[in-house]
Parts: sequence; structure tokens; C-alpha cells
Amino acid sequence: MRRIIIAIDGYVATGKSTTARGVAARLNYLHIDSGAMYRALAWYLLESGIRTPDEAAIQKVLVEFAIHLEREGQEMVVYLGDRRLEKELRQPEVASFASVISAIAAVREKMVAEQQRLGKGGGIVMDGRDIGTVVFPHAELKVFMVADLEARARRRYEELRQRGYEVSLQAVKAEIAERDHRDETRLISPLRRAPDAKILDTTYLTIPQQIDQVVAWAEACIFAPQTS
Ligand code: DC
Repeated sequence: MRRIIIAIDGYVATGKSTTARGVAARLNYLHIDSGAMYRALAWYLLESGIRTPDEAAIQKVLVEFAIHLEREGQEMVVYLGDRRLEKELRQPEVASFASVISAIAAVREKMVAEQQRLGKGGGIVMDGRDIGTVVFPHAELKVFMVADLEARARRRYEELRQRGYEVSLQAVKAEIAERDHRDETRLISPLRRAPDAKILDTTYLTIPQQIDQVVAWAEACIFAPQTS
């Protein structure tokens, strides 16, 4: 059976990673969360005291930035050296700084090269911002996820509250809108829908419904007669 590349892009808190993880589980594919790679660099920079997008300082860090991903079941988990990063990457300030440093060309070059290496054999679901446009422009299936800002803010707010963060709905909404704006307006590889991407609006969908839809699209693609 063909093992395709599924590229999932979209706005903050549309459910990209959760959907990608569920699709990978259903198809027995590997899930790669590309955002976790940008977050890992952001976390490392913040830990090193670099809090602004100082390109010269970041270029230096990139030389020795030993990111690698290891397979755990169907997930690719991010490691820096032998430190496994997970909870660290979910902090709101790390997400926000990831969005800032992801506008730097050298950062994107390093991450994109690694993502292409990881996914080249197919049988993967990768989610991010530029997967269908830049990382895998020839992916067999591209999905672009959207949802109303209000619904996304509420989801992220509830998730953060559950994890013990004292945040207000207004602040979460503002942070999401700011990050979307930054991701959409950066010069290099901005968040864009690839012309051949299918739009998945998750405003009124549950996670199982989102997964079902992407799996249905994937199966249509996997079982379609091949033209060559
Ligand atoms: O998907 P996420 O929220 O974990 O991503 C965090 C930030 O990383 C996001 O705001 C922009 C950046 N990012 C990117 O520029 N390209 C990707 N493929 C994935 C994430």
C-alpha cells in the first residue's frame, strides 16, 4: 500500500497536532510536530538568556544546537542532546518566542532540512505552518486548518487553565491573534494555504470528527488509481 505524506498547516489552536496525532495512529503513520522543533530552539534560547531575535547570537547558537527527534510509538519526540523536551515546550512564552524566531532565515533552513530528511520516505503526518507550501510542496495530501478566533481562544484558554496557568480569555485571544498575524506576515515562508490544500474548518467539529475527515481524504488518496 502507498505510504503518503500528509501535510497539515493552519492557525494557532485549530487542533493541528491533535488531529495529526490521531490520523497517524489510525493509518499507522509517524506523526511529526514541526512546531515542537521551533519551540525547542525558542526554549533553548530563553534558557541561554537570549530573549530577542538577535540574529547574530541565534546564528551562533544554531551551529551547536543539537536537536534530534526520536521515535516513541508513532510520535517523534524532540531531544536536545540527551534531554527529552516535552512539558518545557508547552509554556506560552516559549510558543510566543518560537513564532518570533521562526521568521529568521537561518532558523528555517535548519528546521526545514531536518523535516525533509525525516519525512522523505512517506508514511508521515507532519503539522506546522509551511509543510504543504515549503517543506513538502509535493505532499499527496495537504490540509489547511482554520476556525473562528473565538472558538480557538476558548479552547486554548481551557487547556491552559487545566494545566494550571492563571490566564484570562482576553489575554489568550490577544496572544493567538498576535501569533497568527506574525506567522502570516513574516517574509520567509509565511503561513499560507497551498492552492491544492483542502480546508478543514474546525469551529464546530469535535476532535474525532476532524480525524475522521482527514483519514477519509487520506484513504481516498491512498486508494486512488495511480496515473503513472
Ligand atoms: O505549531 P506551534 O504552535 O507549536 O508552533 C509554534 C510556532 O513555531 C508558530 O507560531 C510558528 C512557528 N512554526 C513555523 O514557523 N513553522 C512551522 N512549520 C511550525 C511552527
